[in-house]
Amino acid sequence: MFQQLARLKEDSILGLMARFREDPSPDKVDLGVGVFRDLSGNTPVLDCIRRAERAVLAAQTTKTYVAAAGRAEFNSQVAELVLGPEHAALRDGRARVLQTPGGCGALRVGAELTRAAAPGTTVHISSPTWGNHAALLGSSGLRLAEYPYYDATAHRLRFDAMLERLDAAPAGDVVLLHACCHNPTGADLSLDQWRTLGGLLAKRHLTPFLDLAYQGFGEDLEGDAAGLRLLSETLPEALIAVSFSKNLGLYRERVGALIVVTENPSQAEAVRTHMLQIARSIYSMPPDHGAALAAQVFADPELRSEWTRELATMRRRIEAMRVLLSQHLRAATGTPEFDFLEGQRGMFSQLGCSAEAVALLRERHHIYMLGDSRMNLAGVMPQNAAYVAECIASVTRKSGAESVT
Ligand SMILES: Cc1ncc(COP(=O)(O)O)c(C=O)c1O
Repeated sequence: MFQQLARLKEDSILGLMARFREDPSPDKVDLGVGVFRDLSGNTPVLDCIRRAERAVLAAQTTKTYVAAAGRAEFNSQVAELVLGPEHAALRDGRARVLQTPGGCGALRVGAELTRAAAPGTTVHISSPTWGNHAALLGSSGLRLAEYPYYDATAHRLRFDAMLERLDAAPAGDVVLLHACCHNPTGADLSLDQWRTLGGLLAKRHLTPFLDLAYQGFGEDLEGDAAGLRLLSETLPEALIAVSFSKNLGLYRERVGALIVVTENPSQAEAVRTHMLQIARSIYSMPPDHGAALAAQVFADPELRSEWTRELATMRRRIEAMRVLLSQHLRAATGTPEFDFLEGQRGMFSQLGCSAEAVALLRERHHIYMLGDSRMNLAGVMPQNAAYVAECIASVTRKSGAESVT
């Protein structure tokens, strides 16, 4: 059977990670893989999670199955955290939540649900977007299309072009939006732009599918959900894929949720039954351990405030590196070209340089980032920021003269 099976190209992020591991240079800098790093380069287990883990393990008496929908208390806490306790859909009983294996699980179940409800739907994804979106949504059989979002060379949003493209989308289509900390660009919509976009989606009968993977990494837990809340309050339907990989540091535990807002409670019940069936047919049940930890943190006021403090520490560390790197880049290039890094949000930004410059950074200077020049600011450290800036300046210098060591 497998004789016919051709070998696939390696996943570009995993391939980059392997090359980084094999690079013996003491100067090497990993700006590739999308995980948070503290000042010692570690991706820490949060203190609130360590404490929650002790309590959860002490109280656990069984490992029997939970349910295809996951933990009920986790699901209701997530709905409040994401939508806010006063949200009209919660008040009216129009929202349903499914605990999923990470944000990826939520995106995949959301795609299957869309296909079950409207098989001919096209999902519009931003150009550029996170590398796994097309695979997660496309593998359900839905058609994909792109809308313009960001000009990496000019370092700015293409909001008008985005609106123009979506204005021409057929009614009933789905629009995938990054709720905050856009990956890979770090460029988010302002609240006014969310409002304008909401008006267009309403007018064109388009449904938003919001990907919330970095709540708390941009502004704070509330601010990062503001655009999402605005759309899901003003439009009749919305899908929301939530991930706790980054903001609770639970990556490998696979903790996420799919929230679906519908027009009325009876549609919400129909959605719930489909979500359960989809989950049963893909992975049956989500892993429990990470969701039990998250639920403990959400429910215990002391753990919850510890979490918001730890989240703020992660956020400030990234913000500080944005400021430091852009200051060094200003000094190294003698231009304000990279000042945009300071105003962007979350872990990622695109340098906007060529693939050749990215390859030079890797091969000559041992600085690793994705081929589209996405870099993870959490890989920048106070001790390597000047080196990274000088190398970037050398490979992007307009004269082409490459001079720095
Ligand atoms: C934009 C975006 N969406 C969703 C995810 C899902 O992450 P996970 O499945 O690890 O929770 C990620 C993770 O990198 C992401 O960057």
